[in-house]
Amino acid sequence: MRRRYVWIYTAYAVAAVAVGLCFFVNRWLAGRRAAYVPEDLTAEYAAWGIDAAGMKEFVPLPAHLPYRMDAAELGRDMFQYRKIGPGTRACGVCHLLSEGGSDGRLHGGVFTRPAKNAVFGKFYLHDGSVSNFPALVQRMIEDERFIGAGSLSNAVALAGRDGRIRKRFEACYGAGGFAGTNLVDAIVQYSRTLMTANGPFDRFCSGRDALSQERQQGFEHFRERRCARCHSGPSLGTRVLTGEGVRVPSLRGLSKRRTFQANGRLYTDLAAAVAMMPNSDFDEDEKGRLSLLAFLRCL
Ligand code: HEC
Ligand code: HEC
Repeated sequence: MRRRYVWIYTAYAVAAVAVGLCFFVNRWLAGRRAAYVPEDLTAEYAAWGIDAAGMKEFVPLPAHLPYRMDAAELGRDMFQYRKIGPGTRACGVCHLLSEGGSDGRLHGGVFTRPAKNAVFGKFYLHDGSVSNFPALVQRMIEDERFIGAGSLSNAVALAGRDGRIRKRFEACYGAGGFAGTNLVDAIVQYSRTLMTANGPFDRFCSGRDALSQERQQGFEHFRERRCARCHSGPSLGTRVLTGEGVRVPSLRGLSKRRTFQANGRLYTDLAAAVAMMPNSDFDEDEKGRLSLLAFLRCL
């Protein structure tokens, strides 16, 4: 008789422990799903000269990153110079700075990505196949879909037909300074000045201005729906590669350009792009949906 009770109690105890365990494992898993810890960029920000004290998730774009002025001036001219390739393409022909840094057209099956705010990336190009900014500039110069010089030395040889270019490089980088690496460097230095700082979101992030009520509501959606899990960093993107091998694009300047997919398809409009995103369902909340769009258009 006694023995039977022991068995019954033991069975109860085991069942209780099992139920408890299930409960805690479930809670723990849910916690892990919910836990989204923004990437800590403090060290990177410091290296970029951005004072991000107390700011982790969202920071304003700086007016520029640290750069060498003489080299950047040279880079500005090289960005528009049409003779570093076989044709007459300059960076500025496809990256129209008056249009946010993009011509909104397809080249080799992909749309031109903005050249503004582009220096913060971890992954470049739609497939993330380039991992640092100087390498991206080199790719733009060499690849036949872009400038098409084939190699940096060829770009230098082509540009060197104008003796004034050689002289300007030597004045900037010293004797023998007219070299492929310096051509890349000049464009990199210039790119550090291509920033769309001081927009409504930047003023909001630095505590200088409030967002309008509608944009503020949209910002709350953006945060709660954890869009910044992928669209992170100063340019709100270009730092994450998805499982499908698509690089998460920047959300800056959305009001000035068209939205498109990595596979070269245009979205009909911004709303259609957002509708493709995780957690973008608004059901009947039309006001909420419009507020998110209003927020995105002020980035
Ligand atoms: C023929 C047009 C064309 C020319 C010329 C061109 N680009 Fe691009 N650029 C593109 C296209 C298209 C993309 C997008 C490529 C992709 O997503 O794979 C791009 C992307 C970029 C990006 C954004 C990269 C990213 O991943 O967000 C930068 C920055 C850039 N180019 C800089 C330059 C510079 C600097 C030059 C000159 C040395 C240049 N481009 C010349 C068409 C061009
Ligand atoms: C899991 C990562 C991830 C999350 C979360 C995410 N996105 Fe995206 N987003 C992407 C990727 C990847 C693309 C590019 C898709 C493509 O090229 O096919 C993209 C593209 C976009 C575009 C188009 C950009 C352009 O230049 O054409 C917009 C707008 C956008 N996302 C907004 C949002 C919003 C708003 C949210 C939150 C509701 C969000 N995203 C959440 C990964 C994400």
